[in-house]
Amino acid sequence: MTARAIPAPRTAAVRSAVKPAVAALGFLAALAGGAAAQDDVERRVNDLLARMTLEEKVGQLNLISHGKNELRWEDIAEGKTGALINFNNAQDVARAQALAKSSRLGIPPLFGLDVLHGFRTQFPVPLGEAAAFNPGLSRLAAEWSAKEASYVGVNWTYAPMADLSRDIRWGRIVEGFGEDPYLGSVITAARVEGFHAGGLTTSAKHFAGYGAPIGGRDYDTTHIPVAELRDVYLPPFRAAIEAGTPTIMAAFNALNGVPSMVNAWLLTDVLRGEWGFDGFVTSDWAGIHELLAHGVAADPAEAARKAILAGVDMDMVGGFYIKHLPDEVRAGRVPQSVVDESVRRVLRVKMRLGLFDKPFVDPSRVDAIFPSPEARQAAREIARETFVLVRNEGDVLPIRPEIRSIAVVGPLADAARDQLGPHGARAHAEDAVSVVEGIRRRAAPSGIAVNFAPGCDLFCRQADQIAAAVEAAKRSDLVVAVMGEPHEASGEAASRAYLTFLNRQPELLEALVATGKPVVLLVMAGRPVELGRFADKIPAILHTWFPGTEAGPAIADVLFGDFNPSGKLPVSWPRTAGQLPIFYNRLPTGRPTRADNRFTLGYMDEAVTPLYPFGYGLSYTRFAFTDLKVAQERVRPGETVSVTVTVTNTGARAGQEVVQLYTRDPVASRSRPLRELKAFDKIMLAPGEARQVTFNVPVERLGFHQEDGVYVVEPGEIQLFVGGSSAADLAGRVEVIDGVRIVPGEQRASAGKPRL
Ligand code: BGC
Repeated sequence: MTARAIPAPRTAAVRSAVKPAVAALGFLAALAGGAAAQDDVERRVNDLLARMTLEEKVGQLNLISHGKNELRWEDIAEGKTGALINFNNAQDVARAQALAKSSRLGIPPLFGLDVLHGFRTQFPVPLGEAAAFNPGLSRLAAEWSAKEASYVGVNWTYAPMADLSRDIRWGRIVEGFGEDPYLGSVITAARVEGFHAGGLTTSAKHFAGYGAPIGGRDYDTTHIPVAELRDVYLPPFRAAIEAGTPTIMAAFNALNGVPSMVNAWLLTDVLRGEWGFDGFVTSDWAGIHELLAHGVAADPAEAARKAILAGVDMDMVGGFYIKHLPDEVRAGRVPQSVVDESVRRVLRVKMRLGLFDKPFVDPSRVDAIFPSPEARQAAREIARETFVLVRNEGDVLPIRPEIRSIAVVGPLADAARDQLGPHGARAHAEDAVSVVEGIRRRAAPSGIAVNFAPGCDLFCRQADQIAAAVEAAKRSDLVVAVMGEPHEASGEAASRAYLTFLNRQPELLEALVATGKPVVLLVMAGRPVELGRFADKIPAILHTWFPGTEAGPAIADVLFGDFNPSGKLPVSWPRTAGQLPIFYNRLPTGRPTRADNRFTLGYMDEAVTPLYPFGYGLSYTRFAFTDLKVAQERVRPGETVSVTVTVTNTGARAGQEVVQLYTRDPVASRSRPLRELKAFDKIMLAPGEARQVTFNVPVERLGFHQEDGVYVVEPGEIQLFVGGSSAADLAGRVEVIDGVRIVPGEQRASAGKPRL
């Protein structure tokens, strides 16, 4: 078996123009194949349920891990588990499949793993993916990841993370799409579709509000007003469900005082009642156990009871359901019907996935056949589109022909494991092409010398290598400095109070700047970092996130101008951590910032604006936006607002621009955000080429939620802004005649209509 035997995802061209439209047809609906097939699934589920003992039922709700001391293989044969986590190779999967088959009812397990942005081949981290503003690429990366993982029998990924975050102190911002609910919905849906197309089912996580812990501290409590929750934090989950995700993971933290794992309003009223979700909810890792520490359950039995009554169907590794639910049912504290319904949900998902009819995985399969050349090529093409060029004074980039030697410096220049990001699944560092190696390969044929000197250890704790790096810089025409975060400084449990460059990195950077050589700074990190004095001192700055296996070649493509950067910031880049949380779609205040009036919004010691706004990113060419036209002066519910703009490439290179449409409702019954992204389109323009771009936004998407959950579009003016970032200033307007009012639950009737 060679890697080539795995067919490439069917998305033909990576750079084909991709519209941010989300396919309406859900994965499950497609699998279920219509009403008759749905009925058949329900009949089979009920038949099976009727034959199950209480213990077997509860077994289906028990998710166990392959951890070193945790796994009792006998549990699988005894029907004590419905799903397994951290099985990542065909031998173990096949063994577990056979054991499950030998159990009394032979119900196949789900095999879950955190396949976030790659299995063996690593694609860019999700926040980087979001920076591409190209859902086609997100879909493609997910599809590749799924193809590799499902090859060895994994069939369920704990992804995508649909958590919006406005606070880059939170380490897990790297796993999501940033700060915007519309971008987040589009990317989340694309990732669900991609995973499904590649053979992995999904679990959108962490429901809900996990991305807004106070202080940016992972696991900390969250306070989000209901109207804001519905406008900002829930839409990406809704999008995941509409794209067909059959499972949802409940969040660790407490939302408005109620831990998500016992939040019946969230898990039952909203998720099932309003949205019609008929899949299952899993807890996060030992999340039901953690209800004791949350202080909402006195003992394990109470924790299990409260969680299942709230709507958590599956207990991930905590072991509370398997131990306590049978007694809770027998004592009448948990109705049998509640357990039955949870089991029904789990079995329904398994049936729809066809698990009962699938052959076992071939245990001779190994992931060592990856990454294939095709996967590498895809990883490279996707990665280079995620880089965001935030500064390029004097057009230092792309590297000019007269540059004959380059010093490649910095702790992340040769950090194969770190460039893969915090979640590696089955990643192997030896598969990865480092930044320095990518630059060497590109420079060698042109006779350009590469002088590599890391400058310090990975965490940059020592300064003894700085002198050698300075020497390398002095011997070179250009310095490329690769700074940022080792992978351990990003991801789960990697919240940061300081966002400055780690340890001695500033000293190293300062020494490089002092050589007088032009410095190109590559920020490799899971979030923006605080640039401080370097913001003005360094001529070229490119944020690369964690680009994955093909980081080196992808970065070389952009540095040398073989690929024109087109990424845009999916999150505001603050000047300093003290500004956090900071986000573009903020509400106005009664005292808008004015330089000449102290008693207005601001800080005594720092600007109130971010260093770089959401949606911002440069190209090697330039774009002009002109001739904004709004087709209608007035629109009514049921109609769309049509906004057309002309975009011209005024530079000398071909390039892609992300054309962005923002709205503002200037007078409403509640304060409305200063800007809200409503649509975007990524287009390629040849030098001098002009193109008209039209956005059609349904009137129903111009509203907001009230605190009681009612969604309204109010009559009145809507302002429109189009441009290449959230600071877009080409403006228009439209008048909305008549309002829209949708009470929770009735939203289900709008299936097929735009998401609210
Ligand atoms: C994380 C989840 C993850 C799970 C299983 C938890 O700690 O919060 O996102 O899916 O572990 O690895």
